[in-house]
Amino acid sequence: MQTNLSDPHGCGECTQAPGTPVATSRILRSVRGRPTSDGAGVKLTRVIGGGELPDLDPFLLLDEFGTDKPEDYLAGFPDHPHRGFETVTYMLDGRMRHRDNHGNEGLLVPGSVQWMTAGRGLVHSEMPEQESGRMRGFQLWVNLPAREKMTAPRYQEFAPESIPLAHPADGITVKVIAGTVGSVRGPIEQPATDPLYLDITLAANVRWDYVLPDGHNAFAYAFEGAATIGENDDARALDTHELAVLGGGDRCVVTAGEGGARLLLIAGRPLRENVVRHGPFVMNTREQIMQAFVDYQEGRF
Ligand code: FE2
Repeated sequence: MQTNLSDPHGCGECTQAPGTPVATSRILRSVRGRPTSDGAGVKLTRVIGGGELPDLDPFLLLDEFGTDKPEDYLAGFPDHPHRGFETVTYMLDGRMRHRDNHGNEGLLVPGSVQWMTAGRGLVHSEMPEQESGRMRGFQLWVNLPAREKMTAPRYQEFAPESIPLAHPADGITVKVIAGTVGSVRGPIEQPATDPLYLDITLAANVRWDYVLPDGHNAFAYAFEGAATIGENDDARALDTHELAVLGGGDRCVVTAGEGGARLLLIAGRPLRENVVRHGPFVMNTREQIMQAFVDYQEGRF
């Protein structure tokens, strides 16, 4: 199924020539996360970055954390390094304090986003600032191109009220963290991968038609309710806590199930570079990883 959309985002910047048909994307594969633990023993679900889906260029990892049990999160993520990529923390519930060895500190509250460019390196901690209650959110790792892996660390941090909402139609609310929906543009700037990061809430049975940035790799992750993606013979169900790798076209058609749905729709321009990763270091060669260990041990982060 194809449609004609000359300026699908209404942004005036789309690369498709007027009248160019945009093919509808479908689910190429779906993946369920695996329970794991990280940091000092925080329980979480690894959706990207595990055995089933090791990466989806430029995305290296997606963790979902969500629990009411303090023992699952209290240990937090004490001091640890990062080099060569970006970590994106999106809090839904709970409060997390971060501190790094360059003197940066902040509190992530429900609905806030921290887009941290680790670049050449930093050492930080991410610790819960609560002893009870619910902790829920996501951490996404986004790769940096070779030319920017050793850039200076940088934070883009946004409180809930500074992340704009788009209402493309009745029953559709989109929190635009990165990328564009109609005339609404998210606050994150990252030309290297030109990311799209949307938190979409759909009322029961509502359908949303959105054209993804041209040439990006994209995935959807349902975290409340269920939806179908695609249309006609290509429509496939996406259940709660399931990730869909999208492909075959840039026009994404999402239809919520009977109970409505809430999902992340995330896309980025692939880097198509060699990836060598070891724990919190993601570089292009083995030598660069060895150098990262040396630099970290000698206190050069
Ligand atoms: Fe971290």
